[in-house]
Amino acid sequence: MASFTALDHPLAGDLLTRLRDRDTGPAAYRELTRRLGLLLVAEATRDLATEPAKVDTPLEPFEGTRIAKGLVAIPVLRAGLGLLEAVTDLYPDAVVGYLGMERDEETHEPRDYYAKLPPMAGRRALVVDPMLATGGSGSAAVGYVKDAGADDITFVCVVAAPEGLARLRDDHPDVPVVAAALDRELNANAYIVPGLGDFGDRLYGTL
Ligand code: PRP
Ligand code: URA
Repeated sequence: MASFTALDHPLAGDLLTRLRDRDTGPAAYRELTRRLGLLLVAEATRDLATEPAKVDTPLEPFEGTRIAKGLVAIPVLRAGLGLLEAVTDLYPDAVVGYLGMERDEETHEPRDYYAKLPPMAGRRALVVDPMLATGGSGSAAVGYVKDAGADDITFVCVVAAPEGLARLRDDHPDVPVVAAALDRELNANAYIVPGLGDFGDRLYGTL
């Protein structure tokens, strides 16, 4: 079974608390999401392969390292777009694919409405979607990315519910999950509690 990691960092705790705050508006929400995303993406790529790289410092030759493996970022629309800039800030050469998914309000099942995925071979795929609630959207997204040829996938979210994490790990035991927090449970509407509400609506002011 691949790992589950919840960020353990005072800055992550601070940023997530501000995101949970019902009084945080969309402009602050986008900026807080981007900053928290930097911590999440750094954690999700902690084990990325490196190769030796020789440079000359002003004083002497030095053998350092550089990243040996490319990245594909796959934000799940809409809310996943909030985490995309964190990937491209840290890895400017990352290529980007998009998956559009929307959860049905009654059944809570995901409906896919868009897919544009680049070649995956030789690259780590980061599927980024802030909320892992029932896990239906996350599991389907990872399935699409596997079907497109990815064999090194990490799922990055802001908050996971135990139910969604269990679903994703059942369906895709090979996929590590990185989150800022594992929350208590889902409510009757399949929202994460304590959670932070509807991430996409808060990010884009569509409440
Ligand atoms: C949210 C979220 C996930 C999904 C999680 O998207 O961004 O994609 O719900 O729920 P699940 O784990 O139960 O599938 P939503 O469907 O609200 O679409 P949006 O990003 O366009 O707002
Ligand atoms: N989608 C959200 O945006 N929030 C939740 O709590 C669950 C699904």
